[in-house]
Amino acid sequence: MAEWIDACAADDIEQEDVIRFDHGERTFAIYRSPEDAYYCTDGLCTHEQVHLADGLVLDHIIECPKHNGQFDYRDGSARRAPVCENLATYPTRVEGGRVYVCI
Ligand code: FES
Repeated sequence: MAEWIDACAADDIEQEDVIRFDHGERTFAIYRSPEDAYYCTDGLCTHEQVHLADGLVLDHIIECPKHNGQFDYRDGSARRAPVCENLATYPTRVEGGRVYVCI
C-alpha cells in the first residue's frame, strides 16, 4: 500500500534539477521544476536500467544519461526515442520545507 514518505528537504534540489531517492529496494527520482513544483518518478529509465538522476533536466524534460531518451517528468510520458515505455509517477507534497512522496 502506498504511503507518504519524507524524501528530502525542498532545498536539497535546485530549480530545474533532479536528485535520486532510494527507499527500501526501490529507487526514485525527485524533480524540482522551473516553477518550483516537485515531481517524483521511478528512478530508472524504462529503456535500460540507468539512473535518471544522473541525467539532465531541461524545463519539464528529463534526459537519460545513457542514450539521451527523454521523458516529461510531470506525467512520465516518453518523449524521445529510444524510450517508448512511460515512466511511473508518484504524488508529491511539500510541508514544512520537506518534500513527501506517496510511494
Ligand atoms: S537507458 Fe535511457 S535511453 Fe537508453
